[in-house]
Amino acid sequence: MTTAINQVTPPASTLAAMPALSGIEVCVFDAYGTLFDVSSVARGAQDALGDQWQSLSDLWRTKQLQYTWLRGLAGHHADFWQVTAEALDFAMATHGIDDGALRDRLMQLYLKLAAYPEVPDTLQRLKADGMQLAILSNGTPAMLSSAVHNAGLDGAFDAVLSVEEAGVFKPHPSVYQLAVDRFGVPAEKICFLSSNGWDAFSAKAFGFHVLWCNRFGQVQERIPSVPDGEIVELSALPAIFGHAKA
Ligand code: LAC
Repeated sequence: MTTAINQVTPPASTLAAMPALSGIEVCVFDAYGTLFDVSSVARGAQDALGDQWQSLSDLWRTKQLQYTWLRGLAGHHADFWQVTAEALDFAMATHGIDDGALRDRLMQLYLKLAAYPEVPDTLQRLKADGMQLAILSNGTPAMLSSAVHNAGLDGAFDAVLSVEEAGVFKPHPSVYQLAVDRFGVPAEKICFLSSNGWDAFSAKAFGFHVLWCNRFGQVQERIPSVPDGEIVELSALPAIFGHAKA
């Protein structure tokens, strides 16, 4: 039997660029790729990686995400620190790089990711408008607190939620449920923000309002549910919620 959730919605030509969202009480952000620039890691080791930095970075990220999904399907959960290291091993081996010191350096850089430039000001403005703010990420609590601290964002969030509380990676619904449980509000009062299309579409299928921060100009996913709107960077948010409050 086919149910609505199993039908992949044909892609609309564009998602709403400035959707009207009302009644949002909490903004929940994905971390990697959304708040923090994962490519800043390999870019920071360009002196050692040379021209390979970009392709290594892309493969590292691709494998990291694949491993989260494979582990989830197989019921073999390991935390994101381990998965990130295993994905790096694959990416380094693919590029013919056998260098333990460089591996350690890249993993340490993963704890000090750069935030995207608009992030601090956007969070401050949302908070000033009375919005509650959270991170909901595959990252371990230690990885997330390190990234938050290094980006100068201590105190910016009301909650930093790790999938480790659920014991499975995104997009398992029990992960998105963590935000509902923590804030004690219905899913539709939460706006979820992710630059990862698969995460944005899956969060919408869960029941959040969702804005896809499509930083990389990607085409729409062909998986169930389509986000409420699409923005290019997070600085669009205060105006969207400001309008919504009126
Ligand atoms: C995260 C990954 C999906 O932060 O970017 O959860």
